[in-house]
Amino acid sequence: MRKGRSRLVETLLPELVIRLPGEGPVDLPALFDTPRKAYWLEIGFGAGEHLAWQAETYPDIGFIGCEAFANGVASLLRHIEQRTLGNIRIFDDDARLLMTALGPSTIDRLFLLHPDPWPKRRHRDRRLVQSATVRRFAQLMPPGGILRIATDHPVFLGWTLRIMGRQPWFDWTARSAADWLERPADWPQTRYEAKALKEGRRCTYLNYRRNGTVA
Ligand SMILES: C[S@@+](CC[C@H](N)C(=O)[O-])C[C@H]1O[C@@H](n2cnc3c(N)ncnc32)[C@H](O)[C@@H]1O
Repeated sequence: MRKGRSRLVETLLPELVIRLPGEGPVDLPALFDTPRKAYWLEIGFGAGEHLAWQAETYPDIGFIGCEAFANGVASLLRHIEQRTLGNIRIFDDDARLLMTALGPSTIDRLFLLHPDPWPKRRHRDRRLVQSATVRRFAQLMPPGGILRIATDHPVFLGWTLRIMGRQPWFDWTARSAADWLERPADWPQTRYEAKALKEGRRCTYLNYRRNGTVA
């Protein structure tokens, strides 16, 4: 890790990191200087460029970024410092731990952008999109909440469409091919996506809306 980044890990991360409570759900408003209009979560933010853009664009929203890779966390800290972003808090461990500790209907928007595809059949249990995980997403989100999933991997895309196609809690908002083959304007490119496109892979952008079905 570069020197400037490790300085931020020592100085800035302790101010922003989320420690899970022993009991009860995470108190999201208490994480921020002032309570926010809503709370959005990005799981596996990588180098953090998408999360930083969302936080800068939507200053009223409180953002929770979750990333287990230390270099990614350090990169996000650099964005936070450079752009003086006060509305991001970080969980630097496995997203599944955080998801068990969040309260019901607390997350209005959830981003899962280019999660590791684990394309081999024998590794499919490692994929972040699973029926049980999607149910957990549904428990965390109120009706109207938005779930965004991006991938460049055909196996993972097929898997995700199958899992999402047979769950009752989210409706796919796409009305035409362009709705999932073109990245919407408020969805900036991630580092992983840029690499995928450069290498000639097609990316897909799935947008789901939480409906009223109880999860
Ligand atoms: C393929 S990368 C994509 C990164 C970023 N979203 C992008 O599009 O550039 C997947 C990221 O998810 C993170 N990740 C995978 N499983 C995770 C988990 N269970 N909890 C938190 N982060 C996870 C990895 O460390 C990695 O940075």
